[in-house]
Amino acid sequence: MRTQVAIIGAGPAGLLLAQLLNQQGIDSVILEARSRHYIENRVRAGVLEHQSVDILNEAGVGARMMREGLVHDGVIIQFAGVAHRIDLASLTGHGVMIYGQQEVVKDLVEARIQSGRPLYFEVDNVSIHDFDADAPYVKFRHHGAEQRLDCDFVAGCDGFHGVCRASLPPSRIELFERVYPFAWLGILADAEPASEELIYAHHERGFALLSMRSEAVSRLYLQCKPDENLDEWPDDRVWDELQKRFDRSDGFQLRVGPITQKSVTPMRSFVAEPMRHGRLFLTGDAAHIVPPTGAKGMNLAIADVKVLSLALGAHYHESRDDRLESFSAVCLRRIWKVQRFSWWMTSMLHQFDEDNAFDRRRQIAELDYVVTSKVASQSLAENYIGLPLDPNGG
Ligand code: FAD
Ligand code: DHB
Repeated sequence: MRTQVAIIGAGPAGLLLAQLLNQQGIDSVILEARSRHYIENRVRAGVLEHQSVDILNEAGVGARMMREGLVHDGVIIQFAGVAHRIDLASLTGHGVMIYGQQEVVKDLVEARIQSGRPLYFEVDNVSIHDFDADAPYVKFRHHGAEQRLDCDFVAGCDGFHGVCRASLPPSRIELFERVYPFAWLGILADAEPASEELIYAHHERGFALLSMRSEAVSRLYLQCKPDENLDEWPDDRVWDELQKRFDRSDGFQLRVGPITQKSVTPMRSFVAEPMRHGRLFLTGDAAHIVPPTGAKGMNLAIADVKVLSLALGAHYHESRDDRLESFSAVCLRRIWKVQRFSWWMTSMLHQFDEDNAFDRRRQIAELDYVVTSKVASQSLAENYIGLPLDPNGG
């Protein structure tokens, strides 16, 4: 079997890359370890930057998002029992879109099937070969049969635990990492969201976040231990803890309902440099992880593959390789700014050390500054709605 671009992984990065290549008439094969049902039901991120919305629309997969997604022009920062609204739209001219990652994935899988190009689910034993030479290939097993896929390029879109980054000798990549001493316990609940906009709440018991998926479904998170045991969190305890952390002087009350999903997500900042190794390109979580407080994980994956798709387009249609050569540097420049923002939001809003009264006062002062200073709230807003993406190198 032969293709132009072998794409490993059918998360947002791999699926969107395939669609952007298809629009340019470039052939690809996607290899995914899990089943279609699994990837379409994996509950993860929910906030799309305005540029991600534009990219999905331009890719021809935005129609349902525009109908069902919720446009938010503001976000609430809560601390010391008081809510403060950051008016994203008036500070930046843009808002964000609330639309679940699994919905983005469903729309992209549908587009892939419509395109008639191959997407293999439930493959195993994937290995990548000769990406430093001119003729790379991928070996994998599908329905028990060994297969070989020859290609011009390999796109490593296989997430943090994938095979692509792991295939590189340690001497060829530089890793930058910070692991945080906490995780998020996330729930999905059949409950009307108690707020029209997201609430990021600083509380001495730990951070909490109110988000949503629709007018009838709430998505909530609370800071917990990295090794938190979900068996110790029956639904009543989750709601009780959330209510304590969202407690406000104006009597705000959460709306409770049946919890349909519960999970614990560890938190880390991680970058693997560079993102190009010969004919292998790493994108999305395969190359970097951000703590979720800035809502950036899926957006970074979308930005990476936008840059890569244009670089591959220039290779095939203009016989130019300068964009492939600058891919890693162009992506990393923006990625590090997004890393900084995600780290900053995480540091400002979470409890790090029970005994550190100084840090708590400092966090409150920082939050107070952010919500009262026009330039500070504008800085938060500018990063939250998404820093400009210049796929040509800015
Ligand atoms: P992924 O979505 O991880 O996709 C990679 C794909 O590759 C997967 O489908 C995987 O099955 C497949 N794969 C892996 N190994 C192989 C292999 N060897 N062969 C073939 N296929 C393979 N971000 C937020 O902003 N907010 C959140 O609340 C949030 N919650 C998260 C919760 C969890 C549990 C995780 C893991 C991430 C979360 N993120 C969140 C981050 C966000 O979801 C990711 O940044 C986003 O999924 C990145 O997309 P991706 O396509 O790069 O990787
Ligand atoms: C959601 C996740 C985030 O990490 C975030 O910062 C905001 C919202 C969500 O899942 O809706």
